[in-house]
Amino acid sequence: MSTVSLHENERKSSSQAENLLEIQNLKTYYPVKGGFFKRTIGNVKAVDNLSFEIRRGETLGLVGESGCGKSTAGRTILRLLKPTDGKILFDGKDITKISGKSLRDIRKDMQMVFQDPYASLNPMQMVGDIIAEPIYNFSKKANAELKKEVMDLLDKVGLSQDAYYQYAHEFSGGQRQRIGIARSLALRPKLIIADEPVSALDVSVQSQVLNLLKDLQQEFELTFLFIAHDLSVVKHMSDRIGVMYLGNMVEMADKNLLYVKPLHPYTQALISAIPSPDPRLKKERMILRGDVPSPINPPAGCPFHPRCPMAREECTKTKPLLKEVKPSHRVACHLY
Ligand SMILES: Nc1ncnc2c1ncn2[C@@H]1O[C@H](COP(=O)(O)OP(=O)(O)O)[C@@H](O)[C@H]1O
Ligand SMILES: [Mg+2]
Repeated sequence: MSTVSLHENERKSSSQAENLLEIQNLKTYYPVKGGFFKRTIGNVKAVDNLSFEIRRGETLGLVGESGCGKSTAGRTILRLLKPTDGKILFDGKDITKISGKSLRDIRKDMQMVFQDPYASLNPMQMVGDIIAEPIYNFSKKANAELKKEVMDLLDKVGLSQDAYYQYAHEFSGGQRQRIGIARSLALRPKLIIADEPVSALDVSVQSQVLNLLKDLQQEFELTFLFIAHDLSVVKHMSDRIGVMYLGNMVEMADKNLLYVKPLHPYTQALISAIPSPDPRLKKERMILRGDVPSPINPPAGCPFHPRCPMAREECTKTKPLLKEVKPSHRVACHLY
């Protein structure tokens, strides 16, 4: 082996060691069927060229308005959806096209916490069975051992052991989300994708569930992709934040950089919309014009240009690529 390729291998393995997940130019399109023969007449470009990485042990926040492709991205990474194009590397392995047993095995390492704990849990199933199911599916464990593991998990998520024999419908939203979290932890995954895990919950219990996730992250050495539709929820959870718009990542930075010095006009608008805790502090609010365009026919050039107060001619023609313009700060915008 020549020295050059040795160096390359070393570099490759060190970046793989640092990053638990890397996605490169990921696209997920939903076909639109129409006409008498139900042919594919177009595509919903839900995820349209997304690249980012998640480092081991970090929480990456992913934000953007409803419909911008966050859930589709999360489901594609977990391979619950088939990517249209691009690459998904998880823990050093290319999982873009795996199937069958390899896919089943990878499911142990990646789990999802869903947005709606009412829809994602079977209300008529006993809580003990809900949490035991993934363990049961993957390993032949004796009943007593299985039960002990489930009891431990109930304890970790702050539910009493009596919950084991109760049914999901007997619990409140916040408690159901705890059950969903216990289930997602059952196989000791490396990565958890939490898709708006508190948006369906009462404001009064949101922070309890967020704090629980933070504690569990420490205890189980978890890496998180934390999806939210506004910047206020991800602020306390994330180390870095990515901002999505119409299936694209438009800005990505360390949390503090993003809140203090946002570069993309879209991020600036999202940040100006966060209510200030002190009403005497006058903030200039940036109001976005119009609605999010349809991902079936996204605008040419920069996807944000029809709503952007800074748009120039170039923005209507060429799509800006996400690039690092300052240390740890990437933006996809022709202004930089
Ligand atoms: N199963 C589906 N079939 C067709 N279009 C879909 C499907 N799921 C989502 N979409 C569309 O894909 C886009 C992205 O949706 P989604 O990933 O749910 O966004 P978000 O989670 O950011 O709200 C939206 O325009 C949505 O209507
Ligand atoms: Mg969603």
